[in-house]
Amino acid sequence: MRRLTLSDFRCYRHQRIETDRRPVVLTGPNGAGKTNVLEALSFLVPGRGLRQARLGDVTRSVPGDDGDTNRSWAVAATVETPRGAVDIGTGRDAPTEPPRRERRVVRIDGQAARGQAALAEVLNAVWLTPRMDRLFGDAPAARRRFIDRLVFGFDPAHARRVGAFENAQRQRARLLRRERAEGAADPEWLAALENTMAAQGIAVAAARRDMATRLNEVGCRPPGPFPGVAIEMTGPLEDWLGLGPALAAEDRMRDSLAAARRHDADSGTTTVGPHKSDVHVRHLNKGLPAERCSTGEQKALLIALVLADVRLQARDHASLPLLLLDEVAAHLDDRHRQALFDEIADLGAQAWLTGTDSHVFQPLGATGQFFRVEDARVMAA
Ligand SMILES: Nc1ncnc2c1ncn2[C@@H]1O[C@H](COP(=O)(O)OP(=O)(O)OP(=O)(O)O)[C@@H](O)[C@H]1O
Ligand SMILES: [Mg+2]
Repeated sequence: MRRLTLSDFRCYRHQRIETDRRPVVLTGPNGAGKTNVLEALSFLVPGRGLRQARLGDVTRSVPGDDGDTNRSWAVAATVETPRGAVDIGTGRDAPTEPPRRERRVVRIDGQAARGQAALAEVLNAVWLTPRMDRLFGDAPAARRRFIDRLVFGFDPAHARRVGAFENAQRQRARLLRRERAEGAADPEWLAALENTMAAQGIAVAAARRDMATRLNEVGCRPPGPFPGVAIEMTGPLEDWLGLGPALAAEDRMRDSLAAARRHDADSGTTTVGPHKSDVHVRHLNKGLPAERCSTGEQKALLIALVLADVRLQARDHASLPLLLLDEVAAHLDDRHRQALFDEIADLGAQAWLTGTDSHVFQPLGATGQFFRVEDARVMAA
């Protein structure tokens, strides 16, 4: 990453940050705008960013807005890739005329891209935020988002498949609802949607399983004092994939969807799919599931997983993910913190680290680039 520009994003009216390949450290008081910078970076990959925000939420609000934030915002960056520097940008296109629909725009080298999935072909990012300290005890959706984010880095098409499944899932739900209300059936259209859901759903589940297998190769040999970590995907789709070839699993999923039409119409849900899978993580040294580990141990497990991902990418790909670590360093003891810095340096991934206390980052010395964030302004320190 060479340059990052934020326009009307959260607390920033206009902010440019010039960086090189070294880890970036942002320090400053509470509420200064540190997490907002990481959030802006997290919008440069598919999804709703590290806060799962709606487009309207991140639009900079100014006094007098009264909740009306129908303005646009933008985040742009110049990214180093194996193919050379690529300019990417994303934001909210806010039409001034009704209908005022939320629309996310994506640009790659100045050209409008058809969807967010195109971003995954240029950049990959993984992040850890204080909110994720609860990941192992949270609802499964958060864990699925976490693993999907890791898969994007290996298989940019994963973002499209997740989107294609969800799109077909929504259409099927709408059709079932209409059928239930009006009695007008369209079995061929339903079957076509279920076909898409089965093909995309099984592909999504298979990609997650592959990711877990790869992570396990590296996760059992963590850096320094970090715990060994094992990860496993569970759910009906995973069971089917474990029993035989992917095509057979697709058949089973298609049959299950067809059999569940009545139930799904009545309940307004989708009985089978990759949205029912879960991610199980184990602390290898203790032999315990992650959710039964201490707060500090859970944090160390998450860091170990993210570092395993970066190590895999370094091994298998020429490009490395951006590593966004919000308030991670301050919560580690000295040994873990030093091991984290050493691993980041060794991997050569660009990490963005935040904290209130710049002392914590002193060991990075000249291997890091330091910025001071104050009152929604980012300055080289
Ligand atoms: N849409 C928005 N428009 C304007 N300001 C916003 C918007 N959303 C959030 N903010 C403000 O941005 C400021 C900075 O938030 P941010 O989360 O980046 O702080 P931080 O430096 O990470 O602080 P902390 O150390 O407490 O985590 C906050 O005061 C917040 O209220
Ligand atoms: Mg913060």
